[in-house]
Order: sequence, then C-alpha cells, then structure tokens
Amino acid sequence: MRDFIAGLPKAELHLHIEGTLEPELMFSLAQRNNIKLPYESVEDIRRAYEFSDLQSFLDIYYQGAAVLVNERDFHDLTFAYFEKLQRQNVRHVEMFFDPQTHTGRGIEFDTVIKGIQSALDEAQQRFGISSVLIMCFLRHLSAEAAMETLAQATPFRHLIDGVGLDSGELGNPPEKFIEVFTRAHEQGYHCVAHAGEEGPAEYIWQALKQLKVERIDHGVRCDEDPALVSYLREERIPLTVCPLSNTALKVYSNMAEHNIVKLLDEGLLVNINSDDPAYFGGHLNDNYLAVQRAFNLDEAVLVQLARHSFEGSFLRDSEKRIHLKEIDDYLQRLSAPPLDN
Ligand code: HPA
Ligand code: ZN
Repeated sequence: MRDFIAGLPKAELHLHIEGTLEPELMFSLAQRNNIKLPYESVEDIRRAYEFSDLQSFLDIYYQGAAVLVNERDFHDLTFAYFEKLQRQNVRHVEMFFDPQTHTGRGIEFDTVIKGIQSALDEAQQRFGISSVLIMCFLRHLSAEAAMETLAQATPFRHLIDGVGLDSGELGNPPEKFIEVFTRAHEQGYHCVAHAGEEGPAEYIWQALKQLKVERIDHGVRCDEDPALVSYLREERIPLTVCPLSNTALKVYSNMAEHNIVKLLDEGLLVNINSDDPAYFGGHLNDNYLAVQRAFNLDEAVLVQLARHSFEGSFLRDSEKRIHLKEIDDYLQRLSAPPLDN
C-alpha cells in the first residue's frame, strides 16, 4: 500500500507553506539571520511539537515563522517542500501563504511573494509540478487588517489565484470577513475558507452563504448538521481534509475516530491533505497511509480520494482530465502483465 500510494498521481489542496518549515531548516535560517530561537537543538524543537488544540499549535507555528526574513529564505523554504513533493508523485499544489504573519514583523509583502514565486517557477521547470497561490487572511486579526492585506496584494494580483481564511477559528466566525471576501470576489479571486475544524457547522454555513466560498478547508464538523451534509453533497463542495493535522490537534483522539471515510461514503467530495507537514508528523503520502491503515482501505478508495484532489482543484476542466487520465494510466500499468523481453 505504501508503494501504491507513492506512485498514485495526486494534488495537494490544503498546505500552508509556513507549515513546511522543518526544524533543521528553522535552525539554519535562524543562524543565517542571527535570530535567537528559544530552543537549543533540532531535537528540542521536535519535543515542543506536542499540541493540545489549534491555538497551542499556532503559538509555536507563528514563532517558528520568525526565522523567515529575506526573499531567499522564502524561496528556500518553498523549494525544499517541492523536493519532497516530487518524491511523492504530487502533480499539482494549491498553496496557502499568510502574508500578515510576516508583514506584522516588518517584512515587506513583496519579499514574501517574490521568494515563494521564484520557487514555484523553479519547481514547475525542474519537476513539472504545477501550482497556484492562495493568500490567507489571519482571522484572529481585524477585518480592516484583512482589507489592507488585499490592497497590498494588488501589484501581485497576477501571481495570486485565490484568498482564504485561517488561524484561530473559535470566536472568529466567517461573517467577520464578509466585506473583504465581497471585494475579493469582485476582483476575480477564487475564495475558500477554513471552517468546521474546531468551529461549529454554523461556521461552514457562514463561509458558504456569506463569504460565498467554493471550497471548505477541513469542514469535518459538517457531520453535526445533516442538512449541511446534504447541501455539500448536492452542490459538490470540496472539503480539503487533513487527517494527521486533525489527530495532532486533538480534533479526533485517534485516526480510527476520524470521519473522513464516513463523509466519503455519504458522497462528499473529500480529499486528503497535509496542512502543516513539518508540525503534524507527515507529508501527503503519510496522510494517505495513515487513513488507509486506520480503516483498512483498498486501492479503489485511495484512487477515489486522489481523483477528488484533482476534481476539487482550481484547474481547468481540460487540465483535470489530463490528471485523471494519469491516474487511469497508472492503474492500467499496474494491472498489465509484465513485458517479458
Ligand atoms: N487551521 C487554522 N489555521 C492554520 C492551520 C489550520 O489548520 N494551519 C496553519 N494555519
Ligand atoms: Zn490549514
């Protein structure tokens, strides 16, 4: 199963670039930029990754991001992630970045986006992995700050495909950001939002109806509202589910408790993602494998999840068809008898 998953063409639709910062790189960037970390060693950092909920993770995650200062740092972080993707047969990525995490520390918006973008271009050229960028607003900050961030993005509009909403969910409902999402729609951005990770089903409704998002990030708490589950099924709204993230942040006490297979069985367009792989103990294929093991899934279900990853993406229909055909070709190669020459 590990090999089957490794070879399966797939897309990643829920990935925070700041969440790919491995302790080794955090350490070396801290040295390069003369930043004192509150850790003595890489092992020390790893030991701190014991989370009780979303906020306990976010505190450490924002602290770690402080080692990112120069354009080159953002490039190196992003390129290191693509080197990992290439080995997992990930063909397309829709990547979140959090400009406010950096502009709030005095880093220029253009430093962040230029560093990330140069790595996306290099990954496309060297590995043939396509990508799009989604700019997330930090929901624990004000609606005015989100609006200011949208304005800062204007010169880079051609590099940014979508906007999203992340950070501490409880107490920061989607409706707080109606104006900025309305403006983003007017400017032609794709719109997505984290909802129903720790927050209630009502936040998913708000994201859909008030922010008019086309995709929900996490969304696992939809199962508390049968009318919402029906709506998600009928409207074919993708849910970007992150299994290892959910168990690391105690949304579920262990993988066997996770509802991803139940949601799939209900006919929802769920797919598997890694969220913040450096912090949650695994990259994309580790997430597939963890779910496969917990539910003893067969290949057909894994294929369905991989198909959903392309179907739920921002890719054009013609591009989706090419990737879905890659999956079919992969299955055909596996079932074909070996050539004996
Ligand atoms: N939820 C909210 N904010 C985040 C996450 C998440 O899973 N990862 C990084 N920022
Ligand atoms: Zn996330």
